[in-house]
Amino acid sequence: MVNDKILELKNLVKKFGNITAVNDLSILSIKRGEFLTFLGPSGCGKTTLLRMIGGFYYPSSGNIIMEGEIINDIPPEKRKTSMVFQNYALFPHMTVFENIAYGLKVKKLPGKEIEKKVMNALSIVQLEGLEHRKPNQLSGGQQQRVALARCIVIEPRIILLDEPLSNLDASLRVMMREEIRKIQKSLGLTTIFVTHDQEEAMSMADRIVVMNQGKIEQIGTPLEIYEKPSTLFVAGFIGYVNMVKGKIKSRQNESLTIATDLGEFINMNEDLKGFKAGDEVTIIIRPEAVCLEKASLKREGNTFQGRIQNFTYIGYIARYYVEVAGQEFPFIVEISNPGGRGILQAGEQVTLTLPLNFHCIKDR
Ligand SMILES: Nc1ncnc2c1ncn2[C@@H]1O[C@H](COP(=O)(O)OP(=O)(O)O)[C@@H](O)[C@H]1O
Ligand SMILES: [Mg+2]
Repeated sequence: MVNDKILELKNLVKKFGNITAVNDLSILSIKRGEFLTFLGPSGCGKTTLLRMIGGFYYPSSGNIIMEGEIINDIPPEKRKTSMVFQNYALFPHMTVFENIAYGLKVKKLPGKEIEKKVMNALSIVQLEGLEHRKPNQLSGGQQQRVALARCIVIEPRIILLDEPLSNLDASLRVMMREEIRKIQKSLGLTTIFVTHDQEEAMSMADRIVVMNQGKIEQIGTPLEIYEKPSTLFVAGFIGYVNMVKGKIKSRQNESLTIATDLGEFINMNEDLKGFKAGDEVTIIIRPEAVCLEKASLKREGNTFQGRIQNFTYIGYIARYYVEVAGQEFPFIVEISNPGGRGILQAGEQVTLTLPLNFHCIKDR
């Protein structure tokens, strides 16, 4: 069932006075069972979008369509969605049990059934035995789990999680990623997860929606978003990239020649089929995709020269900042297993080599 569509967002707009928080945003197929992540900088409209899906904000225009039906007018408690808020929003005077039971009580389920469902939810989030505690007697991670249990206990079709891990410390955050993913998969729950943390998005999502200023920059799998960013914003937001301006000089079958200030480069990337001579482009190179060697002065292949400005040694990688004539910023190159290969020193002349299938973005 993973492939059928559960939710559609069509031309959604949300304005607060003269601020447009979500700006004509469409996602045409959110699939059943999918883990979709909204990723973008603070203020780009992620929470606003999630709240509209959950029914907590009414769209200024556009439609939210769930299983074929427009649900704009349906209040949150009647939607088949359930949301975990960024600050958890647990009821402080209620016990863990009462917090989780709340949504079921609102639905007026019989007491026995409520107890069974709450105990089951507690076991899913591994909080058995803590049902009589109050939220202030729990750690941040445990409160997080209560919020998650309260969300899944009402058996929604879609769960909406707004930066659920941002209040946890780093190691717990990484552990909870795995756990949320496991729970989500075992229950087959469609999940929309909001984060501004690119690593979190990369490690959890089936697909990532990169947002900027209320709009979608790109939707894709983590691999597509990282390897084939379609805009400079996406390239710069997800990890570090080196950028070099260029112009397509010629095309010969599968092979493009791109002229830059660093010389000409050959590119045989199949994704660049639509590029033609005369196009202005930005070459996008990840730090780990550059090859770095002590200088040999003859230029051949996709090489250019530089000089090591400085470096950071992090153990599993060394990060070199390489000064390249005519470039405003140093080229950043990461070499794995630097201990085994020998560290290059500041001041050394080096040759950098680009792969034959580097990524380019057409300038607009
Ligand atoms: N209730 C509100 N009233 C006025 N402006 C708001 C409100 N909620 C959000 N905004 C504005 O809308 C934009 C998007 O906010 P938000 O959706 O919270 O972004 P994110 O969750 O990505 O950080 C921001 O400029 C924010 O200041
Ligand atoms: Mg937010």
